[in-house]
Amino acid sequence: MALHDEKESTRLLLDYEDSGGREPSVFKYLNSRRHANIKSLSYLIFAFSAASFMVLYMAINWRSTKHETVSVPPVLNQILPIFTNESSSNNYTNQIFNDGCSVPIFDLYDESEKPFFIPHDDTIGCDPNLKPLTEYSNGSWRVTQEKEGRSCKARCYELPVLTGPFLISDWFPPGPTDCEFLEAVCWENDREVYGYIHTQILEKPPKVIKKGVPDVFVILVDSLSSRMMKRSLAKTVKFMTEQFQAVDFPSYSQVASRSQVNAVPLWFGRFGASVLYWNRFISGKQVEAGTMQGGREIEVDWSEDEYCHHYMDDKPNMFKDFTDAGYMTNYIDDWFYQTLWANPDCKGFQNYHSAHTFFPFVKIFEKTDLYITKEHLRGRISCRESYSAALEFFEQFTEIYKDRPKFVWYWSVHLAHNFLMGADRLDKPLLEFLQANSEMFDNAFVVLMADHGWRSGTTEFYATEIGNLEHHNPAFMMSVPKKYRDNGILEVLTKNSERLQTHYDLRATLLDIVKYQPSSQFSNTTLLKIPGEKGHSLLREQPLTPRNCETLPIIQEYCMCKSKSIDMKYDTKLSNRLATALITYVHDTLDEFNVTSQCHKYEFDKVTALSIISLNGAKATYKIVVKTKQPAIFETLVTDNETGKLEFGTIERVDRYGTTTYCTKKTHYTPLCYCKE
Ligand SMILES: *[C@@H]1O[C@H](CO)[C@@H](O)[C@H](O)[C@H]1NC(C)=O
Ligand SMILES: *[C@@H]1O[C@H](CO)[C@@H](O)[C@H](O)[C@H]1NC(C)=O
Ligand SMILES: *[C@@H]1O[C@H](CO)[C@@H](O)[C@H](O)[C@H]1NC(C)=O
Ligand SMILES: *[C@@H]1O[C@H](CO)[C@@H](O)[C@H](O)[C@H]1NC(C)=O
Ligand SMILES: *[C@@H]1O[C@H](CO)[C@@H](O)[C@H](O)[C@H]1NC(C)=O
Ligand SMILES: *[C@@H]1O[C@H](CO)[C@@H](O)[C@H](O)[C@H]1NC(C)=O
Repeated sequence: MALHDEKESTRLLLDYEDSGGREPSVFKYLNSRRHANIKSLSYLIFAFSAASFMVLYMAINWRSTKHETVSVPPVLNQILPIFTNESSSNNYTNQIFNDGCSVPIFDLYDESEKPFFIPHDDTIGCDPNLKPLTEYSNGSWRVTQEKEGRSCKARCYELPVLTGPFLISDWFPPGPTDCEFLEAVCWENDREVYGYIHTQILEKPPKVIKKGVPDVFVILVDSLSSRMMKRSLAKTVKFMTEQFQAVDFPSYSQVASRSQVNAVPLWFGRFGASVLYWNRFISGKQVEAGTMQGGREIEVDWSEDEYCHHYMDDKPNMFKDFTDAGYMTNYIDDWFYQTLWANPDCKGFQNYHSAHTFFPFVKIFEKTDLYITKEHLRGRISCRESYSAALEFFEQFTEIYKDRPKFVWYWSVHLAHNFLMGADRLDKPLLEFLQANSEMFDNAFVVLMADHGWRSGTTEFYATEIGNLEHHNPAFMMSVPKKYRDNGILEVLTKNSERLQTHYDLRATLLDIVKYQPSSQFSNTTLLKIPGEKGHSLLREQPLTPRNCETLPIIQEYCMCKSKSIDMKYDTKLSNRLATALITYVHDTLDEFNVTSQCHKYEFDKVTALSIISLNGAKATYKIVVKTKQPAIFETLVTDNETGKLEFGTIERVDRYGTTTYCTKKTHYTPLCYCKE
C-alpha cells in the first residue's frame, strides 16, 4: 500500500486550503520538506524515543490509529517524536492505517480520575410515580384527578414567527383545542397549586412526498466526552451496541471550543452556484480561527459578523437539506438560549428552519409568570426536567410521522454541561425511549454524540492527561439501519471508527445519507468527495492520507493525538517572560474589544503549567497555564520564534467564570474579561 502518498496527501490538504486563498505550491513544499525531515531524522528519533519515552508511558495503554510495517515510530510535524509503546513492538491488531495519531486509552474508572467523580442529580428524592393532574392528547385536554375546591384552566401559546412574540390565548376550561404548546394550571382558593406545559404535534403536509428513505436521528448531549458517555449512559451504549450494532468512535474530535462554534460547521454549508467570495465556497463553516499542529493556519470561513450579527436563514443548512429531500424535520434544543444564539449573543435563525421545534416550550418555561410551571421542570418533585419534556416531544413527533421520513436533531443542553456525572440520570429514560421505539430506531441512522468534551472542570483536572482527553474528545457513536447492515457500509463505518474523525466528517456523512446514498440503496462505499466539503463520509472509504492534527482541520489546542511534551515550569525566567506577555496580550485583546474600562486589570500570580509541545528549528511552541491574582486562569499555546516575537493561540479561560463576564455582552462578549461590577 502506498504510504504517505504525496499526491493524495497534497490533495487532502488542498481540500480545504484551496478555497482559503493559499498557493497550492506552498503546501507541496511544506509537505515534502516535512517528509524529508522525517527521513533524515528517523533513526535518531527512534533511538532517542526508545530510550527516553518508553519508560515514561509504560503505565498507559495506547490506542493507536497508526498501523503499518514501518520501521520508525509515528512522527508528526515536530522534531520531537510522538512515540507510543505499541509502535516499538510493531504489532497491531489492525494494519490498515498509518495516521500518526495516538490517543491514550485509560481505564474508564481510572484511580486518578475518581476524585472528580462527584455525583450530581437535581432530582434526588423526587417521586417518579407522581402523575400530572392534567393530560393533553387526541386534541383535547382534561383533568385526571378532580378535587373539591380545585379548578384547572389552560392557555395556548403560539409562536407564528420564531423570533416574534407569543400569541397567548385566554384561560379556558378542559375540552378540545388544537395548539401545540399548552400551559395547564390549577388553583385552590386562588392559590396556584399546579402548573404543567403540555405538547402535541400537529401534523403538517410534506413539502415533497418521499417514502422508503431511512429516518435519521441525532441525539446530542452537550459537553459529553466519549468516556462520560460510556460511564453515564452505560446501559444505553450497551443496548445500542447490541441491538443496533452501533459503532463507537473513540477518536472523535471537536473542531472548536464552544457549542455554537461547533454547531455552525456541522449545520451550515456552501452557498449556491454563484460564488461571491473564495472563502465562502467551502462548507462546513469554520468560525473559530486557530493554528493546526505543524503550523498551518485555520482561517475562518465566516467572520463573527457573518455568523453572529446576521440571521442565518438564507444560508444553506442541514435542516433545509433534509426538508428538501422530503424529510419531516424537528429541532429540539432544551435551552431557551438556542445553540446558535448563545455566547456571544447571536441572531441565529429568524424564521422556522425545521418543520417542528421545541423552542416555544423552552420559551414558555423561560417567560411564564407562574411559579409552579417553572418549578415543575426542576425535577425536585415530579422528577420532570426539560430533557424529559424534550424526549416526550421527540416521541410525539415520531408517532405522528410514523410513515414519513424523519430527521430529528435533539440537543440536550443541561445535563452534562457543568457536571461530569450529570448525564447519569439520562441513561434510564433514554434507554427506555430507545427500547419503546426499538423497531423505529433499528431501521434508522442513529447518532449519539456531543459537541465538545467536558469543559467545566478545574485547572488541576485539565492538567492531567485524562482531563485533557475528557476536554477534547466528544462522544460519538452511530448505527445504520438494519437492512443496510450487510451491504458494506457498516463494515466501512467500523473501519473508519479507528481513525481520527471530526464534525466535518459527520456533516459529510449526513449529506451522503440525504443526497448521495439513496440512489445506491445505501451500499456505495466508494470514496466520495462532496464538492466543497472538508470532511469525508464515514460510510465510505476515506482517503488513505494520514488523519491527524496536521492534516485535519483541528485547532491544535483541541488536538487529542498524543504529543510528547517536556515540562518547563521550573525555568522561572522563561515562565515569567511568557506569563507576563500573556497577560499583556489579554489586556491588548480587551482593548481591541473596547471593554477595558469594564474589566479588572490582571496581575500575575503564578504559572501552573508550562511545557514545550513542539520544537522546530528555532521555533518552540509551549502550552502554558497562567493564574492571575484575580480569579482568572488562562491557558494557551504560545510560539516563540527565533526573533523572540511571541505568537499566541486561542486563549482559553479555564476557571469557572460563569456570569462574571457578562458586562461585556453589550460591547463584545469575551470570557477574557473579569467584570468590575
Ligand atoms: C510495551 O511494550 C513492551 C514490549 O513490546 C511490552 O512488553 C509491554 O507490555 C508494553 N506495555 C504496555 C503498557 O503495553
Ligand atoms: C502480535 O499479537 C498477537 C496477538 O496479541 C500475538 O499472538 C503475537 O504473538 C504478536 N506477535 C508479535 C511479533 O509480537
Ligand atoms: C386517543 O385516541 C386513540 C385512538 O383514537 C385512543 O386509542 C386513545 O385511548 C385516546 N387517548 C385518550 C387519552 O383518550
Ligand atoms: C458510488 O459513488 C461513487 C462516488 O460518488 C460514484 O462515482 C459511483 O458511480 C457510485 N457507484 C454507484 C454504483 O452508485
Ligand atoms: C472599538 O471602538 C473603535 C472606535 O470606536 C471601533 O472602530 C472598533 O470597531 C471597536 N471594536 C469593536 C470590537 O467593537
Ligand atoms: C518570527 O516572527 C516575525 C515577526 O512576527 C516574523 O516576521 C517571522 O517571519 C517569524 N519567523 C518565523 C520563522 O516564523
